[in-house]
Amino acid sequence: RDDIVVLGIETSCDDTAAAVVRGNGEILSQVISSQADLLERYGGVAPKMAEEAHSQVIDQVVQQALDEANLTENHLSAVAVTIGPGLSLCLRVGVRKARQIAGSFKLPIVGIHHMEAHALVARLVERELQFPFLALLISGGHNLLVLARDLGHYVQLGTTIDDAIGEAYDKTARWLGLSMRRGGGSALEELAREGNAQSIKFSVPMKQHKDCNFSYAGLKTQVRLAIESKKIDTETPFFSTSSQDRSLRADIAASFQRVAVLHLEERCERAIDWALNIEPSIKYLVVSGGVASNQYVRTRLGEVVKKNGLQLVCPPPKLCTDNGVMVAWTGIEHFCKGRFDPPPPVDEPEDFV
Ligand code: KG4
Ligand code: ZN
Repeated sequence: RDDIVVLGIETSCDDTAAAVVRGNGEILSQVISSQADLLERYGGVAPKMAEEAHSQVIDQVVQQALDEANLTENHLSAVAVTIGPGLSLCLRVGVRKARQIAGSFKLPIVGIHHMEAHALVARLVERELQFPFLALLISGGHNLLVLARDLGHYVQLGTTIDDAIGEAYDKTARWLGLSMRRGGGSALEELAREGNAQSIKFSVPMKQHKDCNFSYAGLKTQVRLAIESKKIDTETPFFSTSSQDRSLRADIAASFQRVAVLHLEERCERAIDWALNIEPSIKYLVVSGGVASNQYVRTRLGEVVKKNGLQLVCPPPKLCTDNGVMVAWTGIEHFCKGRFDPPPPVDEPEDFV
């Protein structure tokens, strides 16, 4: 496995990322170009503009990943690329690049499911992590609780019935006038540290539903109503408000975060129960995806896991948010099991993808 070297490419949302990883888990390079300026200007991701931004930097990002790894395409064993879920215009930029390289250098290509990559990168981080394990995946577009029984064999225990938690973080951050540069989530986490989490009594979603599904649309509405009733001017950026207004905003941030995460805790408790019924040998809960880079989330879920006698595996923040390493690594996992596509034809037309 040490001889295997895979290039991973990720363009499913707003980050253009590439990385080179060795079969033994050694990360040879990782490069990310984020669309911070676009995010700040538009407060979110606009697919057409995101596609253009990916197209502008993709060649450079991949080249830099190869350079930093001190490799050329000739050294690669395969190219892995995210094929979904995500914005199709954006995904296409990555897939086109991957097929072009794979075609020119006669390399096998591995199509990667973005959420599987979020989950499996935990196996790069924690070498003891064997199947089966339980995974909570929390990002901007998805909330998933899955029982990973084996590579490619996943049982979905719960999903979101409306918005994902990251979407709720982003919307709340935007309403509170926070900077969207690094995604609203991390700005909100910072602000929440200054607030009183008990000050506003938001209700925990789906209390009466004894399942493992998620819902964040109702909590978003609760936050919206609280902002209106406190007369917070959502058009005023955070940095230009009065200190009294700031502490109000911090209270809303902290109260939102507490309940948003309580919902995760509750669902995880139940999922652990369910999962242990199906697979009594489970020892780990993996928590990954952009929102898993949040320290409060990590701490709270750490408690849940401990209480239930399991271990938490939460990749370092840089590997929780979208990145190329998780794609390369998941490519390695599949490649080693012989799951890949043959090199595309060299003369494949550009618009094939
Ligand atoms: O996995 P990811 O990078 O992209 C998707 O697949 O969606 O997740 C992005 C989400 C965004 O909603 C972002 O605001 C959120 O992760 N996020 C956070 C934090 N860092 C990123 N949410 C809460 N706290 C954070 N520190
Ligand atoms: Zn993601």
